[in-house]
Amino acid sequence: MGIDQEMKQQLVEAALQVRKWSYAPYSNYAVGAAVLTSSVKVYDGANVENAVFPLTMCAERVAVFKAVSQGELNFEAVAVVTENAGTPCGSCRQVLAEYGLDTLVIIADHRGTIHQEKTVAQLLPAAFTPKDLPQA
Ligand code: THU
Repeated sequence: MGIDQEMKQQLVEAALQVRKWSYAPYSNYAVGAAVLTSSVKVYDGANVENAVFPLTMCAERVAVFKAVSQGELNFEAVAVVTENAGTPCGSCRQVLAEYGLDTLVIIADHRGTIHQEKTVAQLLPAAFTPKDLPQA
């Protein structure tokens, strides 16, 4: 399944909306993410911080884990929205890589303007994936 411009903007809109629920009192850096599954469902997530800082969970992983815990394992695209169109962290890249290197990552700012579109493979070259585990 390819993803057209309209669908990309819809995904960015979903990420913009959920970003309102970001709980980021420590960094004040609100992030929203929305994942489009191959079954054409959208799962969203915002970053959730904690007074014990390392427990913080990124928006992308909240969205992916929501999807996976509903049985969704195939992702077409993920939109990530921040104030300044920051790119996903290394941990989120690794988590996305688990489900496929072709997933399109759409990076947008707080206005919904798309700044970058990259595949997971481009964001995480030479990724370690389930295929690298002998028993997989
Ligand atoms: N954050 C995300 O939600 N996604 C990323 O890919 C980068 C960082 C969050 C974590 C933390 O709540 C805040 O942004 C600052 O690092």
